[in-house]
Parts: sequence; C-alpha cells; structure tokens
Amino acid sequence: MGEIRVHDKQFEPYLSAASIAERIKDIAGKLNNDYAEKKPLFIAILNGSFMFASDLFKELAIDAEICFIKLASYKGTKSTGHVITAIGLDMDLFGRDVVIVEDIVDTGKTLSEFLPQLKHQQPASLKIVALLHKPEATVFPITIDYLGFSIPNKFVVGYGLDYDGLGRNIPEIFKLIE
Ligand code: IMP
Repeated sequence: MGEIRVHDKQFEPYLSAASIAERIKDIAGKLNNDYAEKKPLFIAILNGSFMFASDLFKELAIDAEICFIKLASYKGTKSTGHVITAIGLDMDLFGRDVVIVEDIVDTGKTLSEFLPQLKHQQPASLKIVALLHKPEATVFPITIDYLGFSIPNKFVVGYGLDYDGLGRNIPEIFKLIE
C-alpha cells in the first residue's frame, strides 16, 4: 500500500483492512457476549458508518436488528438554536437495548446532541460502538462503550470515511500527510 491522492491532498496508509477486520471480530465477540439474551437494535449513522456497520453486523451471532439513519442539522429559531434531526428513525425505541454505530467520534458534538433525543424515547439501555475516536479533539465528552481504535487528531479517509465526498470506497484507512 502506497500513498494515495484524494481531491488535492495526499494520504498515507494508516490502518490495514486486516487490522480493522481483527478489531471488528473483537468488538463483535464482546457484543455477542453482552447482548446474548437481549435482541438489541443497532442504529447505524449514515453515511460514514455503512461499511463498518455491515462488517460488524456480519460478525454478530445473536438475534439483532439494525436500522440506518441520517442526521441532518439545521439552524432552528432563535430560541431552539442549532437543531439536529434523525431522518429514517422509524423504530420504537421504548424498552429496547439500543446500540449506536458510528464511524468516528471527533469533537463529540454530533452524538452529544443526538443522544438526549434517543434517551427521550426511554430505551432500556443505550450504548455506543465507534470504529475510531480522536481523544485529543474532544469538545463534548462521550463515553464510547465499544471502540475500534483510538487515533491521533489527524484527518483520515477510507473504509466509509470521506474527504469532501470521496474516498469512502477505499478498503483501508489512510491518514492525511501534512
Ligand atoms: P463530531 O461531531 O465532531 O464528533 O464529528 C463526527 C463526524 O465528523 C463523523 O461522523 C464524520 O462524519 C466526521 N469526521 C470527523 N473526523 C473525520 C475524519 O478524520 N475523516 C472523515 N470524517 C470525519
């Protein structure tokens, strides 16, 4: 694996497909154990998490459901301020064991705004699985219950993650060369 170019920027190999697959097997093993009798509902956040969610879901040996949602943020009124809404969330979460699937937690802003909305629906439990976390970028602290990799505060692409729309199809994760 050599360097690649996406739009105007150069990226270098960072996490191989094999190391990602290995971490996913580990996480799935924990989930299989923790949710053995529970029939959890996985909620994957599009677009970035589609590849991770798909590979993770294949490794689950338990009864589980999955749905995919998209988060849209828009400017609300003066009193509501910035609002985030979930598109496609048509499941009843009341009493369910819910697991959010995210590609990457960066500042934590997205999840810190979205999680209260989910809690409002009174799920029995609410956990987060994320492939990547940039601890140094934290502005809104989020507890990640199942984590693939903790990474430095560098921009990454591949394995579902994009740089301005491109790079999602790359099977490995590449890091920006600065
Ligand atoms: P947060 O709200 O700051 O935690 O950002 C989360 C979202 O930002 C992720 O779901 C990604 O879509 C995007 N993001 C953050 N860092 C990166 C990156 O390094 N590469 C690609 N997308 C990223």
